[in-house]
Amino acid sequence: MVVAGDPARALGTIVPRGRQSDAIYFSPDRDIVALGTAGTGKTTMAVLRARFLADPSCSNHGPVLLVTYNNALVRYLRHLVPGANRNIRVETYGKFARGYLNSIGKMPAWNGILQTGHLRCKVAEAVSKVQATYKPTPFFDLDTRFFVDELAWIADMGITDPQQYLDTERVGRKRGLNESRRKAVWKVRTAYLKAREADGIPYDWNDIATAVLNGLKNDTRPRKYRHVVVDEGQDLSPEAIRSLKAAVQPGGTISFFGDYHQQIYGQGLSFRSCGLEITAVELFQDNYRNTAQIARVAIAMSDMPHMTADPEDLVEPKEPSAGGTMPALVKCKNYGAEIAEIQRIALDQGGASVVGILTRTWPDTDAAVRGMRNVRKLRDDGNTPWDPAPGIYYGTYHSAKGLEFDVVLMPFCTEDDMPNKQVVDAYGEDDAATRDGKLLYVAVTRAKAELTVTYSGTITSLLPMGIGLWQLEEVS
Ligand SMILES: Nc1ncnc2c1ncn2[C@@H]1O[C@H](COP(=O)(O)OP(=O)(O)OP(=O)(O)O)[C@@H](O)[C@H]1O
Ligand SMILES: [Mg+2]
Repeated sequence: MVVAGDPARALGTIVPRGRQSDAIYFSPDRDIVALGTAGTGKTTMAVLRARFLADPSCSNHGPVLLVTYNNALVRYLRHLVPGANRNIRVETYGKFARGYLNSIGKMPAWNGILQTGHLRCKVAEAVSKVQATYKPTPFFDLDTRFFVDELAWIADMGITDPQQYLDTERVGRKRGLNESRRKAVWKVRTAYLKAREADGIPYDWNDIATAVLNGLKNDTRPRKYRHVVVDEGQDLSPEAIRSLKAAVQPGGTISFFGDYHQQIYGQGLSFRSCGLEITAVELFQDNYRNTAQIARVAIAMSDMPHMTADPEDLVEPKEPSAGGTMPALVKCKNYGAEIAEIQRIALDQGGASVVGILTRTWPDTDAAVRGMRNVRKLRDDGNTPWDPAPGIYYGTYHSAKGLEFDVVLMPFCTEDDMPNKQVVDAYGEDDAATRDGKLLYVAVTRAKAELTVTYSGTITSLLPMGIGLWQLEEVS
């Protein structure tokens, strides 16, 4: 959705294009899944569908929960759904889950959810504990991320007993795990949960969904929401979707909008088997955001082997007609030269355009904008109103998800960092390529009009190098 602000483009005046009406005004009595590639208007449709379902003239209207991925998007969606409409609430899943558990007296005032950094330490300790009970094996030497991720996947799937874990196909997970390794993982999970319980912390960000679902199963109070609309649904776990389904009133619905090319959490998760009553999946391919030149890079990326490894539910992007300048690929002599080049372009363009400086990690982002003034950080709390004025934003690829900028600048796209070495250690080459490839895809597709990628050394193999895709430049 637009970061650049033209108030005239408020959603009230947006007219559905192409087949968007099919999803927006789909039966208010039925669940819907709409899959579309980047820029096809999923967020636009999600907001318009929420409005449709909340409108008193709709035959099955009622309070709507509009769930999105992070606080930056919450801020953005609130900007699109002005506060006047008290029948639509915009929240992240985490906020909804905490609020619900609080309402049934199951959310401690503090320390209710184990935060990511602490979780990693706890899982590392659990791995060491279990390792001590085994003969030496390299399995336990895998990067802690692997175990963190596997435990998250178990929770995301709603798996709560070891036999179910042994029996479930690990779709989309490329590091195979035989039975004895799965048993070892289960022991790590048990040790981790025990340690967390000893600290009095009932949840983490993954297993909180099961707690919500269990709470709702035993909750006879009337449900707050008649409908739930989910944007960026590809990153919501099956267990979270099940819990949202359980949260709607009888006769209410779930509307799911997502793009599996942009799945950057929870590899291999799917909307299938989440209890949605789907009669049709609507597919969207017409890109209303990117110029043809930028879309060409994105389309070439989506065709690369690491992006098509799990083809289910991937929608093929189509090239838009709006033309523009060719994306620039700039080779710099070193890291410092990349920063200088990125800052030069940002200062040059930031007066009249919305510029996004996007990197893989926060330290990289901080380095890219060091010394710059009046730059706006993307990760922010959800309460500050959206500021749509031109200027320079900066953040990680994750934090830019769902947003859009006139100009996107992507420094540090070198082979050494992409795929990231630690990600390779944790998940293996193939999986790491898929994960970082999807992140790069998210970043590239944020650009409405101009895209510049810089690197020093060798360019990452995760970007396509086809003839005619890039304008090649060199700065010293
Ligand atoms: N019906 C429409 N009329 C005018 N503009 C539209 C329409 N639908 C989408 N757009 C514009 O196209 C751009 C992309 O829309 P949107 O952000 O909703 O796409 P998306 O599918 O959610 O993208 P992403 O996958 O990146 O989240 C935005 O600038 C939006 O305003
Ligand atoms: Mg979107």
